[in-house]
Amino acid sequence: MDGITLTYTDRKGVLAPGALETMMADNAGLLKRVIDGEEEYRDYLGWFRVDDTAGEERLDFLLEQARRVRADGDAFVVIGIGGSNQSSRAAIKALRPKGGPAILWAGNTISACETARLLEELDGYKSVYIDCIAKNFETLEPGIAFRVLRQYLERRYGAENAAGRIFATGTPDSTLHQLCRDNGYTFLTFPERVGGRFSVISDVGLFPMAVAGIDIRALVGGMRSMRDRLWHESAGENIALQYACLRKLLLDRGYHLEMLSYFEPRLDYFAKWWIQTFAESEGKNNTALYPVAASNSEDLHTTGQFVQQGSPILFETFLEVRGQDASVIMPHEEKKDYFDYLEGMDFWAMNNVAFRATMAAHSDRGIPCLLLSIPAIDAATLGALYYFFLFSCYLSCHLLGVNPFDQPGVEGYKAYMFANLGKPGATL
Ligand code: PA5
Repeated sequence: MDGITLTYTDRKGVLAPGALETMMADNAGLLKRVIDGEEEYRDYLGWFRVDDTAGEERLDFLLEQARRVRADGDAFVVIGIGGSNQSSRAAIKALRPKGGPAILWAGNTISACETARLLEELDGYKSVYIDCIAKNFETLEPGIAFRVLRQYLERRYGAENAAGRIFATGTPDSTLHQLCRDNGYTFLTFPERVGGRFSVISDVGLFPMAVAGIDIRALVGGMRSMRDRLWHESAGENIALQYACLRKLLLDRGYHLEMLSYFEPRLDYFAKWWIQTFAESEGKNNTALYPVAASNSEDLHTTGQFVQQGSPILFETFLEVRGQDASVIMPHEEKKDYFDYLEGMDFWAMNNVAFRATMAAHSDRGIPCLLLSIPAIDAATLGALYYFFLFSCYLSCHLLGVNPFDQPGVEGYKAYMFANLGKPGATL
């Protein structure tokens, strides 16, 4: 049992009694259709069964490759943007595995300053490895970063030695694959039938995690157990359908933003992954919720005022972590600082009080509050959460009537940028 629960608090009766239950029952057919496998999205559902792209043999292979990097490397640079780097970065920042190479990020910016800083930082490591992740290898950011970084490795280690340090994750027979064939780089697979933001269940997300030292077997185990749960829970109990229906009902009641609120800052990058997953999948046809995050308690001192008294445009999804995994006790102090009332109290307990207080105050204001409660921040739970959100997002797109797997709007700025950069064939 994954121990993940979802509850809904609506102190001001925003949703009519029974509205959620009715909507969930009405969408039993949708749930069944999705679980049975939709022909319409056949080419995008490589991730859905988990084992097609993250089966045991593939995990063995990835772990073996990761062992090679971990045995020799003290820095590993993940080159990628959007769906190509978000999931591994989210897990690595949340789980903070110890003992492996430093994990650095590139190909997610065009900033000269950041790129120069990274190259300077790399000089401080002895043995650098890189993995360029790009589905079609046409995206500018990873493309230019890969060129700069592989030349950096060639300068430092010589062409032959550098080749052994270069991984590339792309679709079979893409330009990236050809570069690997021509130069002896190790090629990993970006599955054809998996889009960027659904790619955590593949080499894309799992290889950098394995290099960092995350137990990817446990993580994929969590994905499988959530898959089994969601495939078997009836429409009336299915938490993914419940989440998707609540979001749609609240959107229809005029709430335009969903705020993911949490009290563990190490979930910041997980929130970024969640934002990308929903914004890029749903934000089409002039509809959808705008996903935003609040990293508390810090953001209670930034956006908290708006949430409590500003325009009533958002509802909140609290991500609660139940298990205590650290302890800092407020010490005794002779000097007068007026914090004695907290003496002997654990920071963990204080944080928990702050979380409950926030949810109470926001619900009192009339903000609809969802509570997604997880037992711990560990590999298995994160795996379950990834699958939960991907599945929910897929259902949610159906409720909105949009294609979950494309992102045509992203091409808007690219047309201007490529034309102005002089890309061959690019026109406005
Ligand atoms: O989710 C998506 O499909 C996108 O965010 C892509 O991952 C992102 O644009 C990067 O694409 P690529 O891997 O082709 O460089």
